[in-house]
Amino acid sequence: SEALNKAGSPWAHRVFDSLDSTNAEVMRRLAAGEVPPFAVVAERQTEGRGRRGRRWVSPYAQNLYYSLALRINGGARQLEGLSLVIGLAVLSTLRAFGLVDAGLKWPNDLLVNNRKIAGILLELLGDPADICHVVVGIGINVNMQSSVVDIDQPWTSMQSESGTLIDRNALIAQLSACLEGYLRRHELEGFSALREEWEGGHLWQGKPVSLIAGVQKIQGRVLGIDATGALRLSVDGEERAYSGGELSLRLS
Ligand code: BTN
Repeated sequence: SEALNKAGSPWAHRVFDSLDSTNAEVMRRLAAGEVPPFAVVAERQTEGRGRRGRRWVSPYAQNLYYSLALRINGGARQLEGLSLVIGLAVLSTLRAFGLVDAGLKWPNDLLVNNRKIAGILLELLGDPADICHVVVGIGINVNMQSSVVDIDQPWTSMQSESGTLIDRNALIAQLSACLEGYLRRHELEGFSALREEWEGGHLWQGKPVSLIAGVQKIQGRVLGIDATGALRLSVDGEERAYSGGELSLRLS
């Protein structure tokens, strides 16, 4: 933790050996009055959480489990696109470590050759119309070996893609720097300024997809995203926009 909290670090990093979930720890700290921004990192999680109620497999000392506490005071407007902006920051972090084939899957999965390498889970505290706190949870598969885990979807890690063991302290420093840069641009210029860059990193531009919304399945072709970060699909020849954290995309 000393190495991470040296001068130049955009916020404090609180480092733990084991936690239930780094997102849960950030929530407890916010509830106890700790002032954002700050980050929480753990060597392992016993109850790592993923999107849509799934669990996030979190073995010891191999990956990155990172949560950032943010204060949002521009109301709902500043929340628009936030999860996509975080995706861009993680993408640029992966690329800085030589993973040139990494890309985004709307809304905020990171894939290499159609295999998941990182995931993002945003959790909100307070009234989004007013001042509120956001917990930005980021899980990156760093040095995880396939022999030690059982994951129910295709996945890969930074080590398998780059062929070298990744220094996780250097990764955290890079991630925090990228997050700070993209969050600042988002705050100053709004999401629309980052829209083209996001589409440039989107692996599924132009692809035929199924959008899963609960029991509903919508077939269409990806046109891109709009100025708020909503997914634009061509469905039966008509353009439609979709947003919301519970949606999930498949190739069809
Ligand atoms: C997803 O389902 O793709 C999102 C996964 C998010 C996992 C990270 S690991 C750090 C943080 N703490 C959690 O419990 N979840 C997020």
